[in-house]
Amino acid sequence: MDHRFCVPCLFGLEGLAADELRRLNMKNVSAENGRVYFEGDDAAAARANLCLRTGERVLIELGRFEAASFDALFEQTKALPWEQWIPQDAAFPVMGHSLNSKLFSVSDCQKIIKKAVVERLKSRYHLSWFQESAETVQIRFSIMKDQVSLCLDTSGEGLHKRGYRPAHNAAPLRETLAAAMVILSRYRGRDDFADPFCGSGTIPIEAALIARNIAPGRARHFAAMDWHTLNQHIWLEEREAAAAREYHGDYRIFGSDLDPKAIAMAKANAERAGVADLIRFETADAASFSRKTERGVIVTNPPYGERIGEKQEAEELYRRFGEAWRGLFNWQLYLLSSHTEFERCFGREADKKRKLYNGMIKCDLFMYYK
Ligand SMILES: C[S@@+](CC[C@H](N)C(=O)[O-])C[C@H]1O[C@@H](n2cnc3c(N)ncnc32)[C@H](O)[C@@H]1O
Repeated sequence: MDHRFCVPCLFGLEGLAADELRRLNMKNVSAENGRVYFEGDDAAAARANLCLRTGERVLIELGRFEAASFDALFEQTKALPWEQWIPQDAAFPVMGHSLNSKLFSVSDCQKIIKKAVVERLKSRYHLSWFQESAETVQIRFSIMKDQVSLCLDTSGEGLHKRGYRPAHNAAPLRETLAAAMVILSRYRGRDDFADPFCGSGTIPIEAALIARNIAPGRARHFAAMDWHTLNQHIWLEEREAAAAREYHGDYRIFGSDLDPKAIAMAKANAERAGVADLIRFETADAASFSRKTERGVIVTNPPYGERIGEKQEAEELYRRFGEAWRGLFNWQLYLLSSHTEFERCFGREADKKRKLYNGMIKCDLFMYYK
């Protein structure tokens, strides 16, 4: 039986997540603001969780309807077939958000939805009390302009938590955003790859996972692995299928940072991600970045100078890095910054820009093709 899935993603990454899902052979993929929908069977749930690089989580959408009152929310929630997904001993917490809607109180919506699901399950299981002691089936709701979407979360922890980065520095990049930047650079493992402001190593590690076509979720646990309502063979089958798609070439990936502590963290993270053999990390100043190889791609996330007193320092760093980059032969650059004067400081207008959000910070990905 096919399910309807919903993948929330960072604003600006919908198109990339949709492309990834099409390449994973999902059906009827369509992108909206901040989310991508697709259809597929139980195996699709496992494949999406294991393989998606740019999506935040994989949800099964049980229902979508309009509700402008608590009565409407209660009745339409109760009408959905929750018993197909929630066994009588499972825990089913409810969380979600509401935006631009008449039902704006998230805690009230949470209570109403919980009550409606309990009423539905009472009538199906002929029970008056639920222990909620077995596996967790997290219910997630989203209400936007009075449109309610009710989903079950198959991922558990967000997909950006690949499991390789318990150690990070002060301003780590979300793994899903780092992967998106690498995908946008069209890096495929042929040319050299470098991140001269690598911090905890997120960008080089995501580049290595992409070069080897390693499923980013191959080593982690997903909530739906504990669900009895999904065929449990799918996880092993999809994991083996993903492993069979891995490449075993040698790639030249470099990560450097001025801070030796960041480099130590990056090395430990790459080790955990299983790609330490692919990346050469070193402590170095990006202002003197140079390479002898003719071609390559730089994907990087320098300091933005957001805090008071740091703006001028960032501007000077952009200027010096610009000089170093102009000394390279044929190296493309993809650089993420929120600094509105980046191009002026860097000394050259970008060939193309793309709006991306680093958490709440509105940024541009400045692209230079050379
Ligand atoms: C925004 S953080 C990068 C975070 C990284 N993408 C991650 O996921 O951990 C910027 C990094 O630039 C480094 N940095 C600052 N000035 C530098 C310089 N002149 N040369 C190289 N690295 C520098 C900082 O130590 C910091 O780790």
